[in-house]
Amino acid sequence: MLDIETLAMKWEKSHPQDILREITGMGLKWTLAMSFSREDTVILHELNQICSPVDAFWLDTNLLFPETYAFKDEITARYQVNLRHIQPTLSLENQAKRYGKDLWQEDPHRCCYLRKVEPLFAALEGYDGWITGIRREQSPSRARAQIIEWDKQHELYKLNPLAFWLSDELENYAETHNIPVNPLHTQGYPSFGCYPCTRPVKPGESIRAGRWEGWDKSECGIHQ
Ligand code: ADX
Ligand code: SF4
Repeated sequence: MLDIETLAMKWEKSHPQDILREITGMGLKWTLAMSFSREDTVILHELNQICSPVDAFWLDTNLLFPETYAFKDEITARYQVNLRHIQPTLSLENQAKRYGKDLWQEDPHRCCYLRKVEPLFAALEGYDGWITGIRREQSPSRARAQIIEWDKQHELYKLNPLAFWLSDELENYAETHNIPVNPLHTQGYPSFGCYPCTRPVKPGESIRAGRWEGWDKSECGIHQ
């Protein structure tokens, strides 16, 4: 059992590579969750200098942006990563048959549950913890994210090595270290998920303002 409070305090403000080196050296089984955001490629870049191949997965809702699918290929060509392709049990066609066409327009909570929340349980089976790109700055609901936490929903550890990083720092870091960045980030999407539920943000809007516009919903449900 890790002493997460002590570790979270110890690692606060540490460089992500130091955090990742320590954690991967503890003999536990970790996997990196990749949405192909700047956060995730920075973490992959750091992790790949410590272990090879990196154990990672992506939750393919089948509704991601074309840019994201293309970027995934770029990333897998550049880094040594064993990237598991996790898909929902229901194909889009069967989801439409069972729940109606374009479920995201009628009930995005159910759609996210079927296409992200449920598949994540399968992705995490057999692991001691997962690594994510969550940052405190991203939203009020993430403001208390710790570097390391106990994830009650999945009953394993959750490591957020960029929890205290700000967007500017992250951008500069990726640029300085020549880390590839999903082109969506330079097209007005500081945050993105599936194309039907994400719009670009306008100047002055918050990072996640473009997600699920018009709905009382700010999370897909994988982070609680
Ligand atoms: S979301 O819950 O609203 O989609 P966000 O896009 O901010 O989350 O991403 C936060 C972190 O959750 C990412 O850095 C990544 O670790 C994980 N994540 C989000 N979406 C996915 C996905 N489709 N596949 C794998 N990991 C994901
Ligand atoms: Fe469905 Fe939208 Fe959630 Fe993607 S983000 S799973 S399309 S509701």
